[in-house]
Amino acid sequence: MDHSNAAPALDGPEATPCQDETKSGLSRRQALSAMASAAFVAGMAAGPAAARPRRARAADPAGKKKAFIEGLIARMTVDEKVGQLRLISIGPEMPHARLMDEAAAGRIAGSFNTVVRRDNRPLQEAAVTRSRLKIPLFFAYDVVHGHRTAFPIPLGLAASFDMAVIERMARVSAIEACNDGVDMTFAPMVDISHDPRWGRTSEGFGEDPHLVSACARAAVRGFQGSSPDRPDTIMAAVKHFALYGAVEGGRDYNTVDMSPLRMHQVYLPPYRAAIEAGAGGVMVALNSINGVPASSNTWLLQHLLRRQWGFEGVTVSDHGAITELTRHGVARDNREAAKLAIRAGIDLSMADQVYLAEVPGLIASGEIRMAELDARVREVLGAKYDMGLFADPFLRMGKPEDDPADVRSSDRLHREPAREIARDTIVLLENRNQTLPLKREGTIALVGPLADSGLDILGSWSAQAVAGQAVTIKAGIEKAIEGKAKLLTARGANVLDDQKTVDYLNFLNWDNPEVIQDPRPIEAMIAEAVAVAGQADVVIAVVGELRGMSHEASSRVTIEIPGSQRRLLQALKATGKPLVVVLMNGRPLAIGWEKENADALLESWHAGTEGGNAIADILFGDHNPAAKLPISFPRSAGQIPTYYNALRIGRPFTPGKPGNYTSQYFEEEQGALYPFGYGLSFSSFTLTGLKLSASRITRGQSLTAEATLTNTGRYEGANVVQLYIADPYASIARPIKELKGFQKLTLKPGESRVVRFEIGPEQLKFVNGALKEVVESGQFNVQLGLDSRDVLEESFELA
Ligand code: NOJ
Repeated sequence: MDHSNAAPALDGPEATPCQDETKSGLSRRQALSAMASAAFVAGMAAGPAAARPRRARAADPAGKKKAFIEGLIARMTVDEKVGQLRLISIGPEMPHARLMDEAAAGRIAGSFNTVVRRDNRPLQEAAVTRSRLKIPLFFAYDVVHGHRTAFPIPLGLAASFDMAVIERMARVSAIEACNDGVDMTFAPMVDISHDPRWGRTSEGFGEDPHLVSACARAAVRGFQGSSPDRPDTIMAAVKHFALYGAVEGGRDYNTVDMSPLRMHQVYLPPYRAAIEAGAGGVMVALNSINGVPASSNTWLLQHLLRRQWGFEGVTVSDHGAITELTRHGVARDNREAAKLAIRAGIDLSMADQVYLAEVPGLIASGEIRMAELDARVREVLGAKYDMGLFADPFLRMGKPEDDPADVRSSDRLHREPAREIARDTIVLLENRNQTLPLKREGTIALVGPLADSGLDILGSWSAQAVAGQAVTIKAGIEKAIEGKAKLLTARGANVLDDQKTVDYLNFLNWDNPEVIQDPRPIEAMIAEAVAVAGQADVVIAVVGELRGMSHEASSRVTIEIPGSQRRLLQALKATGKPLVVVLMNGRPLAIGWEKENADALLESWHAGTEGGNAIADILFGDHNPAAKLPISFPRSAGQIPTYYNALRIGRPFTPGKPGNYTSQYFEEEQGALYPFGYGLSFSSFTLTGLKLSASRITRGQSLTAEATLTNTGRYEGANVVQLYIADPYASIARPIKELKGFQKLTLKPGESRVVRFEIGPEQLKFVNGALKEVVESGQFNVQLGLDSRDVLEESFELA
């Protein structure tokens, strides 16, 4: 069996950065011939090269680090080298006492899920005093959207369209993680998703490469600060490399089959952005890519990641992924799996024994060369060096006497940033008759099974956040009205009435079943809610998903509000009382009914520890919402995938001009229910007077696009002006439009401001059929809008 999965046909000289091409003749022929190549079809092709990224590691001009690490490697036995490739979680099979033995024996590189200084400190002591070579451990953890304080889930963070918000989230999270002795986070998660059936859509930043890349950079800056070797910074390991968000059918862990063009144009840029921002680590995805598992994919891990992108950091497998190579059917047994993973370039094996058991034998037999093993070890030691651990193994451990008596104390939380950040992530989808903001008067009915859930508001991957410390929506509203209005509450329904699904979600979290069902019949719960609504002036219904429904291994076939809660909403609607629906969920939902029937509709995602306060701030007008959807909301699961930047086709559906033979679903309206970039404010805004500074430019030149944003409403508020570019005729079919910039502006009532965008080669380039970054001459359409659908448009010509 030939396991070399590099692509010799296209492995030749790298493309020059961003070549200029014409839209006719040669470039199209080149594209076509490239498309015909077998290597291209297999997806194992060279991609666009660009300037080498910023080094993931601190510069080492004097060669100090190199000399140190090489000196160490020269003294290491094979067993010690293999030890440095193991990343082990604390757990029932590996309790703290056993981890101590492993550390003392030099048999582990580090651990994950040990997140308290008083646990980590003795482990580090065992490594640096008792092991032969005294190599320090590192401690990793999933600090994805907070550590002790939960911030909104990443999908919500992206809705802020504000990179300072994301950087701040990561900065605060890093500080909290350092205070617990953590050195590395498995984040940011930058998997683009076009399929909301996939539960992990919640963990990513949405559907758009430009936005997700910007979020990736901001998160890395926040986690790593100026350098990952500081006592208050942690190393970022971007994940899941690569294309995990494109699992077929949205079914978690499924295979990914994707054209190289789509990879390079849409899915790969965010990983690269994180690496260019200096991310020191990369977590390798569980999925296969065009038949080759990422964990054994030499094209992905050697050619693309290291050679083309110049990544110099450490790679870590996902949980058990190396052993899973046997299940993918590319390795006969664990021995072969270990060989493939080492060869492909997986430095750290997460949570399995396969390197430990197999690598010494593979070295002895010569199937793995010592140089190959050394290459893997070098990266791990390099990462430890970059995290500052050789200089001070206790860098993030503080002094024992300063350890908090109660690590879970509420005093350790960062509530103010959590509240401010959460407010910036909440999207106002509908607001008929200015239902919001609510007045602090009269009687308010608060119903819905998620209204008082401290656990669900934390969202998936909530690290060390504690449900009891979260401000629920009920608590937030109570505090906001402070006796000025009367609050009546009723649960109204369970989140799910399907016991099988409840059992599955509880099984996923077997050590701590999370879903607690109210045993009353739904009819009784609804009747109670309707009675409460009958006494109120306005009804707030909090509905959506348990956090476990938008999580790893939580794929859905329907993306509607579960039936029990829809029944509740229908009953509330029938009362005729103004209905404010607050959605709590981790993926786009098909909310056609809610759109039509709610007087106000608020997308709050899973808003984190301070979520309840932030939501109340918006409900009562203490904060004017300005967030925008980072992902399209389809009308139904059958419309998946629905994303705004789809490629042009020969028979597009044209709104208002239905034709028999155009691309459409015949039972339903076309297009997203809510498009990418959409979101309202309590104020009203107009965007007018789009002007381009030139109607024709030549290569290398730039122009500016400007328009005037006016706040025509009664409240101060912010809005996000979005720049889209469409390339209507090129050597290959291009997206209908692509986001190329955005600016968030805050305006007082009546205030106008001119917003300007620079458009040059960076905004016009794309990956062509030969996988080269090019700018092709011809017409470009420039669109400015407050969402991706409703835009102003002007054109210019690139000569
Ligand atoms: C598996 C998940 O896929 C990954 O995202 C996570 O970082 C690891 N487990 C470690 O918890």
